[in-house]
Amino acid sequence: MKGLILSGGRGTRLRPITHTSAKQLVPVANKPVLFYGIEAIAQAGITEIGIVIAPETGDEIRAAVGDGSRFGVQISYIVQDEPSGLAHAVLTAEEFLGDEAFVMYLGDNLLQGGIRDLVERFRESQPDALILLTAVADPQNYGVAELDGDRVIALAEKPTEPRSDLALVGVYMFTAAVHDAARAIAPSARGELEITDAIQYLLDAGMRVESHIVLGWWKDTGRLDDMLDANRLILDTIEPRCEGELKDAQIDGRVVIEAGAQILRSTIRGPAIIGAGAKLTDAYVGPYTAVGEGCTIERAEVEHSILLADCVVRDLDGRVESSLLGRNVRINRDSHQPRAYRFMVGDNSEIAVP
Ligand code: TTP
Repeated sequence: MKGLILSGGRGTRLRPITHTSAKQLVPVANKPVLFYGIEAIAQAGITEIGIVIAPETGDEIRAAVGDGSRFGVQISYIVQDEPSGLAHAVLTAEEFLGDEAFVMYLGDNLLQGGIRDLVERFRESQPDALILLTAVADPQNYGVAELDGDRVIALAEKPTEPRSDLALVGVYMFTAAVHDAARAIAPSARGELEITDAIQYLLDAGMRVESHIVLGWWKDTGRLDDMLDANRLILDTIEPRCEGELKDAQIDGRVVIEAGAQILRSTIRGPAIIGAGAKLTDAYVGPYTAVGEGCTIERAEVEHSILLADCVVRDLDGRVESSLLGRNVRINRDSHQPRAYRFMVGDNSEIAVP
């Protein structure tokens, strides 16, 4: 069995971060989302993984992941020229996949508990496809499945009148039959080859599609709130450790402080992670915060946020909360007159002031 991770796409919902970077590399608890997927596939005993990349962000993904040796797997890269849908991504990878069965994992998704048991079940039960489902409050925003027992009867993409509350989770298992299905379907109203249509094609052709209902958490990190949620869920599981330097510091709860970090006259209330070489001075870092490598926080408070590498947050009156700061972002107090907000921000940025 092979693994296929989809890491192309447009990432429009995470702009402006995705103007300059792949959303699959945004860190959750200071580790790129994509790495969790690679690890989950590796833990299931699959060693040959293809990663679908977009021309714009592919190089960055290649540089971050490399040949896969550090995950104990072998990685091939497959360039998808246009983000024309998940089923299109499968077709693009056809040569890599050959006639083997495979697990497809969306590169911006996180699934608690890994996929080892699912891969085992797929191998034993040998259906044509196995999809993962989870109950959601707003099924009209997802691909939705209708079931008869474990068997899937029908699928609908973002239905206005959902037949169940069971949404498709971003992990799927397929036999090579999916290639013909992906070739046979037409683009949807949004112009994409939808994986739900390809699976529906399998059903219509009388093939066996099984389902598994996920009981742990699942997160699609495609939007800011979901990214912060994923960060919260992962930080809740970290093992505390301190490799940095502390001076007059108060550390409460689950906190990881990486090597070279300096915490001076500051309070950190976990769960939180402070990246290598970060410097906190007269600062407060509150629960569910991931501070990236080389960040500086001085006379400021940050909580429930993700700061990418080398950010500076300095001299703020109010607390920074529920925020995602891209690399090398600077937020300072400015003492010049007139007293005013001064911004230098990219397209599609969002700023909320009290
Ligand atoms: P989505 O989040 O559904 O799509 P997107 O990345 O274009 O994001 P947005 O809706 O915010 O514009 O994609 C799920 C995953 O699959 C994600 O990791 C990107 C990847 N993907 C591809 O690799 N190729 C594609 O053609 C598409 C649509 C997505």
